Amino acid sequence: MKPIKAGIMGWPVDHSRSPALHEFWLKTYGIEGSYVRLPVPPESLGAAIGELHEKGFSGVNLTVPHKETALSFLTGITNEARQIGAVNTIFLTADGKTLGTNTDAYGFITNLRAEAPMWKPDAGPAVVLGAGGAARAVCFALQDAGVSEIRLVNRTARRAESLALEMGPRRIKPQPWENMKEALDGAALLVNTTTLGMKGQPALEIDLAPLPPTAVVNDIVYVPLETPLLAAARARKNPTVDGLGMLLYQAQPAFAGWFGVRPEVTPALRAHVLAA
Ligand code: ATR
Repeated sequence: MKPIKAGIMGWPVDHSRSPALHEFWLKTYGIEGSYVRLPVPPESLGAAIGELHEKGFSGVNLTVPHKETALSFLTGITNEARQIGAVNTIFLTADGKTLGTNTDAYGFITNLRAEAPMWKPDAGPAVVLGAGGAARAVCFALQDAGVSEIRLVNRTARRAESLALEMGPRRIKPQPWENMKEALDGAALLVNTTTLGMKGQPALEIDLAPLPPTAVVNDIVYVPLETPLLAAARARKNPTVDGLGMLLYQAQPAFAGWFGVRPEVTPALRAHVLAA
């Protein structure tokens, strides 16, 4: 059998941790295959996707800036990718068809359930900060899990409003940033999807006082692993979930589809990816 090939397309793609992640699994499961970096400028994305089949790829991941633009170059897309409006994983069929999906929602919810088993979808309202692509995946996952109220707080109110309109105005309630206190009041889950707290970005400075002490605080930022938000939540003894797990779990269905083995997320994998 020929070695199986997969990879990640982005521009730039040097800093991606996905190669370290997939290579760890290839080695762990003794699979003959490779996962390579594919630097693809925006104007070449269509051509690059078109060449995957003849180059022998089983599929690829997509990262910035290709996740949204790829939608128009694929043979088919899943319901998840359509609703989230972004593709992070492509599977190739034997006859060269390209199927795009989005595993970020799966990664987010699987990690949340693993790291905070006390959290239940019916525990109360969830607060999501941010209204970009990551927020769309998180809102999709929370709605799919059965959360009945998602308070969507974003600096630019218009973006939160259009996300709610598109994805489910009945359960997603846009809130202006100034209403943070009311949004946090009585919430069972707080998720940061903004870039605040990321290395090189300002900290996310919000007053957590209105948040119940039982509420789970999940930051999807993973560089650094302990963001100022998570440090503040830990200091007041809220259960916390860091962002690395979402990255690890989103890769699970992709690896399974390409290489035929459902891989496990383990402490050894976490340590390996952190050190990469
Ligand atoms: P992604 O697709 O990764 O989610 P994005 O679309 O660039 O990234 O979204 C970044 C999010 O961080 C947005 O919600 C953005 O708020 P705006 O919609 O108002 O731009 C949020 N964000 C970035 N810098 C911010 C800041 N200084 N204060 C508050 N929110 C900020």
